[in-house]
Amino acid sequence: MRIAFASDHAGVGLKDQLAAHARQLGHEVVDLGTNGADSVDYPDYGRRCAEAVALAEVDRGVVVCGTGIGISMAANKVAGVRCALVHDVTTARMARLHNDANMLAIGARVVGPQVADDCLVAFIETAFEGGRHQRRVEKIG
Ligand code: RB5
Repeated sequence: MRIAFASDHAGVGLKDQLAAHARQLGHEVVDLGTNGADSVDYPDYGRRCAEAVALAEVDRGVVVCGTGIGISMAANKVAGVRCALVHDVTTARMARLHNDANMLAIGARVVGPQVADDCLVAFIETAFEGGRHQRRVEKIG
């Protein structure tokens, strides 16, 4: 899978960790920044990653900010993007099973590194269930 990663300054450490984990699992990583501690605005990075997903330049997107809230809000403004903000493995798995999430958002200041890694794996490896969920996902627009 080709997966884009983006974050603001608050999420850069976890973003780099998750990107490295995805690479270890054999996925192609597209790093859309940020790449340092300088303060940046999360909407710029959420949108950048969401546009890569919407344009099918990548299969999935992963975004990280302090809480995951702002960057997921920004990502979800892009048509065709379903970005799930998750804090645990169960919601990461359900976001794929029922919601066909094509983006994952995590808060670096609220989710520990091991849980974040486990969320990433669930997001990558869980298939959409389809069936009755297909109609509901289509209604999201
Ligand atoms: C940056 O300080 C912080 O506001 C941002 O990372 C994020 O948590 C916003 O939702």
